[in-house]
Amino acid sequence: MEIQELEQQFWRAFPGAKEPEICRSPGRVNLIGEHTDYNGLPVLPMAIRQEILVAFRPREDRQVDLRNCDPSFPIKTFENGPDLPPSPPGEWDNYCKAAIQGLNTHFKVRAFRGMDILVTSTLPIAAGLSSSSSLVVACALAYLKVLGLHLEKDISRLELAELMAEAEHYVGTRGGGMDQAVILNCVTNHACKIDFFPLRVEVAPLPEDCAIVVCDSMVKVRKSGAELAKYNAGPRTCALACALVERQLKDEFGPEVEIDRLGDLWFGPLCLTSKEVEEIFSRVAPKPNLTLIDAATRLKCTPQQVRDRWLGDLPEPNGGFHVQARLRHQLTEYRRVETARDALLAGDSELFGQLMNASHESCANDFQISSPDLDALVKAARDAGALGARLTGAGFGGATVNLVPKDICHDFIDEITETYYRRHKGYNGGAPVFVAHANDGANYL
Ligand code: GLA
Repeated sequence: MEIQELEQQFWRAFPGAKEPEICRSPGRVNLIGEHTDYNGLPVLPMAIRQEILVAFRPREDRQVDLRNCDPSFPIKTFENGPDLPPSPPGEWDNYCKAAIQGLNTHFKVRAFRGMDILVTSTLPIAAGLSSSSSLVVACALAYLKVLGLHLEKDISRLELAELMAEAEHYVGTRGGGMDQAVILNCVTNHACKIDFFPLRVEVAPLPEDCAIVVCDSMVKVRKSGAELAKYNAGPRTCALACALVERQLKDEFGPEVEIDRLGDLWFGPLCLTSKEVEEIFSRVAPKPNLTLIDAATRLKCTPQQVRDRWLGDLPEPNGGFHVQARLRHQLTEYRRVETARDALLAGDSELFGQLMNASHESCANDFQISSPDLDALVKAARDAGALGARLTGAGFGGATVNLVPKDICHDFIDEITETYYRRHKGYNGGAPVFVAHANDGANYL
């Protein structure tokens, strides 16, 4: 939607309001490094042109009046204040509340301001392209302005990204900080190599000879209900794995050794090499599975305490939790991301593609976040000539990301339209596929 059209719609929604301010916040596609961010291990995404645009005005009272140009999103209103009770899970105003609450806490806001806010989006929803974090960041930029604060002066892009990653936990997802970091810090034509705790962003140029093609599997992934539980299984199992690793380190090196997350093995004071980490992992998880009872014995606590501290209500799979494979994914994905960044800097598309392919295999087999549809779409893409093809984002549905030589891009899209969308899905409409262009981070217009 054009800016002018958005302004018109804003005046129609909020008659009599003064001219609105506008901000934009892109979606993202992750090229490699999946389910590693919440463990403090790096990722390599890029922001895309599809984005959320928000028109907003401060109000004199504390009311937030949140509307969407898409009528399937109901009008939401709430009072801003010291403690914002969340709406039921899945309601879209929770993303706005998350942003406001995060900023209120950070800036110790007492003069709570309301705002009129109208959202429009070119980002497909629930397609694994981070429409939710993009909305959180857009609302954060709007509310910052309403508070009279300035991005980069009162809070840096990195600080805001860290703050919003934490703030988004309000909606119930235990996500890491990848989405907010790339949405706020990306640069045109570049991918971002992102490290965490503390957040660091380094840009790397995208290959010139290849296009990044995003294909929607047409299986929606929402960050609520059963899908939220599936996503949270990753962070929860990794939290348990981290506790087991810490136990092992204490036994081997002394009780003073502590780690908060798996990434601390490499980046904390321990500063281990990947080879050393691999050896520790093999001692922590010599067998594929670990039952709840075994974990409790190892951690010297009761099964209930293991649930309270790390697993929550995550159901125990038959035979136990797959700790060995989950750890293997973390280690191998870490190595792939580091090599992928080097491959980008060296302009080596072939190598980058191979790493993407290996990442998909690891996501599917070791982290178990793929699905028959995603696997079929990845296979169709490789058969159609992609140098690399993998699921992207949380998994279980959503999109795949593909590295495709520019000279075969048209044929590639025709071929997967036939093999995946027509034959596999029985879908005869226009294939939900696009060439992604790396975009700048969120800002005001
Ligand atoms: C979601 C989360 C991210 C990240 C990815 C998986 O998009 O929001 O923080 O964990 O899943 O890589």
